[in-house]
Amino acid sequence: MIVFATSDKGGTGRSVTSCNLAYRLGLRGISTAYLDFDFGSPGAGAVFEIGAVERGTLNGNGLHSYLRGYNSLPQRLDVLAATNRNALRSQRSRSGKLVLLPGDAGGGEAMPVIDAQVVRRCRELLLDLDSTFKVVIVDLSAGRSAAMQIALEATRPRDMPGKEVHWLVYHRWTRSHLMAAQGLVHGPNGLLKIGVDLGYAADDLSARIRFVRTAVPCVTGEHTAGSGPQAAWLLKQNDTLRSLAAEYRLGMGALLGETPVEPVLQWREQIVLDADVNAGIANRATVDAFEELARKLWDPATWVRV
Ligand SMILES: Nc1ncnc2c1ncn2[C@@H]1O[C@H](COP(=O)(O)OP(=O)(O)OP(=O)(O)O)[C@@H](O)[C@H]1O
Ligand SMILES: [Mg+2]
Repeated sequence: MIVFATSDKGGTGRSVTSCNLAYRLGLRGISTAYLDFDFGSPGAGAVFEIGAVERGTLNGNGLHSYLRGYNSLPQRLDVLAATNRNALRSQRSRSGKLVLLPGDAGGGEAMPVIDAQVVRRCRELLLDLDSTFKVVIVDLSAGRSAAMQIALEATRPRDMPGKEVHWLVYHRWTRSHLMAAQGLVHGPNGLLKIGVDLGYAADDLSARIRFVRTAVPCVTGEHTAGSGPQAAWLLKQNDTLRSLAAEYRLGMGALLGETPVEPVLQWREQIVLDADVNAGIANRATVDAFEELARKLWDPATWVRV
């Protein structure tokens, strides 16, 4: 299964959520490759706490130089062996394989020329990884980026017949984020429009897309409980957002899941371990949400077309 992680806005939580999702897949014994295609700021190395590739690789063998044809074998790092975080490394025996293919540090600057060779290299790499790993997660740059265009071209059904290719669109739980996510998928020059121009059937591509709501505030939380005006206002806003999401076709039928606001992640981009929950540092609900995202992504029922 190939999964593209995208968002219209930056800072939606796409990378941190996708890295935690990859980690949770690993814990389920599902071998996972994580490709940092973010041409602007490859940051997965920082989330996995691999010091050598914190801002992407410096060795010129990252994904961006691979796509440009400067190297034929992009670097692969075994995350649980390479991480500097002891508590993460100690999960090695419990987890399936989790491999990071980092981007090049500063790799974005010369990237956006999309030609047939770039698309071919991308397709070859994805097919190779798809035959080795059960899930291949590709973290794309935000917006209607070159990365998104390359991804769509490389995985056209006619070039990858029968392959399971999915899209996760991340957004926060606000009005402007809902509008942005709607525009990215359904708008002019959105994912569906570009896809149709490339020969996708709109309903087929649409069925491969799911939304992920990140850092959703708890309307009835400890700070907002009660029957005061603030609680009433929050509940009303939440209902308004739900209606808007449904109107924009980002509602329940198109949703993979949501994550709650997590204090740890507000302060630090990282993997949230069960150990963090057991130590009383992170919230159980956050880990449960990542678990649920992993479960649903892997569940064939999620992708059955109705
Ligand atoms: N559930 C959450 N609760 C609180 N903060 C979160 C949550 N998920 C992610 N964050 C935080 O939001 C910020 C943005 O997340 P992240 O870097 O993953 O976004 P992104 O969409 O990949 O951004 P970019 O476009 O810059 O690549 C980070 O500081 C991250 O730790
Ligand atoms: Mg990111």
